Amino acid sequence: MRVLLLGSGGREHALAWKLVQSPLLTELHAAPGNPGIASLGQCHPVRADDSEAVLGLARALHIDLVVVGPEVPLVAGLADVLRVGGVSVFGPSRGAAAIEGSKTFAKDVMAVAGVPTAAPLPEPIAPCVLKVDGLAAGKGVVVCHTQDEVEEGLVELAALGGDLVIEELLEGPEISVFALCDGATCLALPVAQDFKRAHDGDVGPNTGGMGSFAPVPGFDADAIEELVDLTCRPILAELAERDHPFIGTLFAGLMLTPDGPRVLEYNCRFGDPETQSLMPLVEGDLLEALAACAAGDLGDVRLSRGASAAVTVVLAAGDYPARGDSGSRIDGIEAAEATGALVFHAGTALRDGSLVTNGGRILDVTGIGDNVAAARSVAYAAADMIRWSGVRRRDDIALAAATAGG
Ligand code: AMP
Ligand code: GLY
Repeated sequence: MRVLLLGSGGREHALAWKLVQSPLLTELHAAPGNPGIASLGQCHPVRADDSEAVLGLARALHIDLVVVGPEVPLVAGLADVLRVGGVSVFGPSRGAAAIEGSKTFAKDVMAVAGVPTAAPLPEPIAPCVLKVDGLAAGKGVVVCHTQDEVEEGLVELAALGGDLVIEELLEGPEISVFALCDGATCLALPVAQDFKRAHDGDVGPNTGGMGSFAPVPGFDADAIEELVDLTCRPILAELAERDHPFIGTLFAGLMLTPDGPRVLEYNCRFGDPETQSLMPLVEGDLLEALAACAAGDLGDVRLSRGASAAVTVVLAAGDYPARGDSGSRIDGIEAAEATGALVFHAGTALRDGSLVTNGGRILDVTGIGDNVAAARSVAYAAADMIRWSGVRRRDDIALAAATAGG
C-alpha cells in the first residue's frame, strides 16, 4: 500500500514511525513532512492545506491511502476534495470535521446525541468559560473565575472574531479519548493525558502541549469502552444521521468532574503530543485499521495495547509559546536515541547538513517502560542529552501519575 501522510509535526512523525512497521506498507510519502519523517519516507514540498496540490500529488504517486494529521485542512474540506477525486482518505469530510471546527455545531450534536458536556450559559457572568466558535489554534478559550477575567476575556476573544459560546466552568482532571472511526463503528485507543500549560505545576499560558503520557491509570479496556460508549458512539450515530459519517480519529477532550465525565471539546484528528505516547503502545497493524476506516468498514480489525506505558516530553524553544526559534544547532539526538528513547521531530530543519530549530515545539522525546514511572525516567534521561541554545521543557510531565504508582 502506498501511503501519503499529511502534516509536519511530532504527531505525524509518530504516525510515520508506526505506519512503517506495517507489512502492508510499500511506500511512505509525506507532505510536507519534516527531517525526522524524511528518514522513514519521501517528503514532498506540498502544503497540507493546498487541497488541489495534495490531490495532484496523490494521483501522481498512485497513492492508496492519504492520512491527514492536522485539523485545518480537514475543517476546510480537504477530505472531500480527495474523495471526489477518487482517492481514499483517513480523515473526516468538512461536514463531519465541523465537530471540531464549530463549537456551536458540536454543542448541538452533543445535545441531540445526549452526550454530557458543560451546560451553556445565557450571560457571561463569572464563574464561566468563554469560547470562540471557530478554530483558534488553542487561543479561543478563556476560563474565568472572576468578573474581571470575564471582561478581559471578552475583549481578548472579540479580537479573534466569530460567535461566542459561554458555558459552565467545570473542575477536574482532563483526559484524551481517541477512537478510530469508519463512519459507523469505532476502535478505541488507550486513554492519554496531555499537559497544556507552559510551565511546571500547570501554570503559565496555554500551549499546543508540553508533554503527554498513556495509559492513564484507572482506565482499563472496559473503562475505555464505557467512555467511548458515552462520548464517541452517540456522536458517530448522530453525524451519520445528518449524512456526515465520521471517518477518521474522533478525539474527545474530557474533564472528570465529581458528577462524572463531561466533554469539553471534540477534535477531528489525532492529538499532539498524545499520539507520540500512544503509537508505541498500539500493538497490531495501524495501517490496516486506518485503511479499513477509510474504506468505511472496520470489520473485525482489532488493535491491542501492550502492557507498557509511554511518556513524552516536549523540548521547546526558549520563548515558546510567545515565540519560536530558528536556526539554532541541535546536538545529542543520537545519544538520546541510543538510550532506547524515541525522538520525534516537531519543528526542525536541515540547514547546510546540520539539524537546526525551526518552530516553537522542536522535538518530542518519548520513553517507554513497564509503568509510567519507568517510562518517565527513560524520557527525561534521553531529554537531558539533547541541547541547543535556549532549549526549554517542563520537568513535571506525568510526575503525579508516576508518583501514584501508574
Ligand atoms: P477546549 O479547546 O474547548 O478543549 O478548551 C481548552 C482548555 O480549556 C481545556 O483543555 C480546559 O482546560 C479548558 N476548558 C474548556 N472548557 C472548560 C470548561 N467548561 N470548564 C473548565 N475548563 C474548560
Ligand atoms: N493535545 C491536544 C490537541 O492535540 O489538541
